Amino acid sequence: MTKRFLVTGGAGFIGSAVVRRLIGSTTHEVLVVDKLTYAGNLESLAPVADDPRYRFVRADIVDAAAMHRLFDEFSPDVVMHLAAESHVDRSIDGPGDFIQTNIVGTYSLLQAALAHWRALPAPRRNGFRFHHISTDEVFGSLGAEGLFQEDTPYQPKSPYSASKAGSDHLARAWHHTYGLPVVITNCSNNYGPYHFPEKLIPLTIIKALRGEAIPVYGTGANVRDWLHVEDHADALLLAAERGEIGESYNIGGRNERTNLEVVQAICGLLDELAPDAAIGSRAKLISFVADRPGHDARYAIDASKVERELGWRARYNFDDGLRQTVQWYLDNRTWWERVRSGVYRGERLGVAI
Ligand SMILES: NC(=O)c1ccc[n+]([C@@H]2O[C@H](COP(=O)([O-])OP(=O)(O)OC[C@H]3O[C@@H](n4cnc5c(N)ncnc54)[C@H](O)[C@@H]3O)[C@@H](O)[C@H]2O)c1
Repeated sequence: MTKRFLVTGGAGFIGSAVVRRLIGSTTHEVLVVDKLTYAGNLESLAPVADDPRYRFVRADIVDAAAMHRLFDEFSPDVVMHLAAESHVDRSIDGPGDFIQTNIVGTYSLLQAALAHWRALPAPRRNGFRFHHISTDEVFGSLGAEGLFQEDTPYQPKSPYSASKAGSDHLARAWHHTYGLPVVITNCSNNYGPYHFPEKLIPLTIIKALRGEAIPVYGTGANVRDWLHVEDHADALLLAAERGEIGESYNIGGRNERTNLEVVQAICGLLDELAPDAAIGSRAKLISFVADRPGHDARYAIDASKVERELGWRARYNFDDGLRQTVQWYLDNRTWWERVRSGVYRGERLGVAI
């Protein structure tokens, strides 16, 4: 059955993958609501821009009146809420935007969704879903052993993760208190095409390609569980359409790597795919810099619930996914050169003196 999806943050990294998937492989209609901050990029939606089932509105989710209006006009069956300030280093330098968008913005969206849901006729009301997309960082940091489960207690440690934990609590509360049909997903670090070049993988690819020093925080020993963005988009569509109301699902790629291993792998791939005699071996560009304040040691996800209950399987292993990603950045220079020519210029963020 064709449904109407309102996707916030659809011009961002993960949101655009979700929208490309919704338009490319379903019959659903999509309204993207995005403020187009430095992280939002309409070029990431160019592959679907001419499709009659796709619409875009520039709006701030904090703007309650605008959200109520958009719900009235578009009348969604499903809300996929991805709009957020998403970069930990930026949250250290300027937490205010994170509180506004991630907490106040989620609140105004929940209120608009609640008013809309209450006014729907019964069959549509029963099918309505509010899907809140969140992070595994709400669980805090792991030691060498163990995995985050859905019932792991929340222990956020950065302004970013604290603001996302706050938004998760609000979404849960709107379900328990008002009955809004909410589904939550918490996922690990994503990577893949169209990733804004301030995050570890695209930043490393671009710096290594240009023969510039590649910054690695601390000793590079921090561990992340990498999830390909297209695998994540598949899981998100399953959760949005088939997730159990009031439940949360952890999504991860079972690809634990230290940051140093990731950077070294990218260097090796670029030496193979884009050899440059003037640069030589990229690994020698690696430069250890002062660690991020409060840097969480390890994140790792137990994804067995989403696999068991929603039938999701990751299609990419990390080696293949990383190769595909590096090749994408080599093939799509125009995309990242335009993105980089905007506000963000690859400077170090989040030092918190
Ligand atoms: N990238 C990851 O590895 C990761 C991991 C776990 C969870 N998440 C979560 O997934 C979601 C998407 O992450 P991403 O990496 O695609 O983020 P992103 O930073 O690439 O994109 C965020 C999008 O939200 C938009 N936006 C920001 N503030 C807004 C506002 N006030 N109103 C409307 N739009 C606004 C931006 O313009 C941008 O298009 C976020 O909620 C994030 O917390 C991301």
